[in-house]
Amino acid sequence: MSGEQESRMTYANYLRVEDLLTLQSGPSGHSPAPCNDEQHFIIVHQTFELWFKQILTELEQIHGILSQDKVSESQLPKLVEHLHRVEVIFKATSHSWSVMQTLTPQGFLGFRDRLGTSSGFESWQMRAMESLFGIRAGRVGGMDPMAHMERLFKENKLSKHAWDYLNDIESRPSIHELLVNWLSRTPINGSLIESENDSEIVRNFVNDHLNSMQEHGSKVIEHMIAIGHGERKPLTDRLQSQVNAAKEFLIQDGIVNRSRAGLLYIETYRELPLLSWPRALIEQLVATEQAMILFRSHHARMVERMIGRRMGTGGSSGVDYLDMTTKYRIFKDLWEVRTILLKNSVLPEPKNKPFYGFSSE
Ligand code: HEM
Repeated sequence: MSGEQESRMTYANYLRVEDLLTLQSGPSGHSPAPCNDEQHFIIVHQTFELWFKQILTELEQIHGILSQDKVSESQLPKLVEHLHRVEVIFKATSHSWSVMQTLTPQGFLGFRDRLGTSSGFESWQMRAMESLFGIRAGRVGGMDPMAHMERLFKENKLSKHAWDYLNDIESRPSIHELLVNWLSRTPINGSLIESENDSEIVRNFVNDHLNSMQEHGSKVIEHMIAIGHGERKPLTDRLQSQVNAAKEFLIQDGIVNRSRAGLLYIETYRELPLLSWPRALIEQLVATEQAMILFRSHHARMVERMIGRRMGTGGSSGVDYLDMTTKYRIFKDLWEVRTILLKNSVLPEPKNKPFYGFSSE
């Protein structure tokens, strides 16, 4: 064989196909070998874990970019690209749930005992994704995934590499925290966080927005009363509680929350050229989180169809627990700000437009 023939890269070499195909026989000592249903169960799980690996790579890149003291405008499209891939992977996995569902409940019961107490609850890559994103405390259903990871590590059932990585993530700020910092540096009406009159300018922006909300709400109420669609007192109370909630969102202990004000500014004045990539980034973050929530929800429905309401192999209440996990929200402010947005025609004019790229005006 010539040297060239010997060094020729092949499909199997490049992808290490033979290695990959040896990994579906179940844990060593597993006898008999997995039946068709069980092999299918293993392959679906392994496929997910491969996608989780790719998601972690994307999240680390996002983390790296957002960790800088100053994130340049030119890097925002990259952030959107990485997040978009995460969103599409989560969406693609919804088809994998359908593949999983070709396993019948009886088919699953046929080998379920072989899983012992193993469960997706023990997926360290899932915990790494959650923790990198920013889900760390406030766990639901009386379950504590990180305490469980620690226990597995101490019992030699989790690799040192995985345990060190989980701890390394926890020692760093999460993507959510980095995003909050980035938002707090948003120029508001042309004012930078370090500008001399910044607090005054930011406060005026927030007050103007709240006033517009109040005025517009009052007009809507007058109209509703005029057409006989409700009574003044309950309608006014409802409006007041909405304006108060908006105020509490934006101002705490008399101090404007600059990160939320920045977020509101980006979402409100989306037509300003300099804000278009920040806007796209926020939209992409919401889309990605929505895809992750739907991923959890699809899993729960698949599980309900497969095992009904029985307890999970990981010891949780099963479907009830999984439904609780769909309540997790990483980017809470990004969801909440939507409640206080106003239509363009009632918005105060943005100040210092040339700063944002409208140089001809
Ligand atoms: C027959 C198929 C499946 C059933 C019946 C099932 C059932 C469950 C149950 C009941 C739980 C709750 C924890 C427990 O008590 O065990 C759980 C958690 C989990 N499962 Fe599955 N599952 C299945 C397939 C999958 C697949 C294919 C994946 C993909 C990796 C997966 C990933 C997870 C993850 C990540 C959790 C942890 C959720 C959390 O704590 O946030 N599951 N599963």
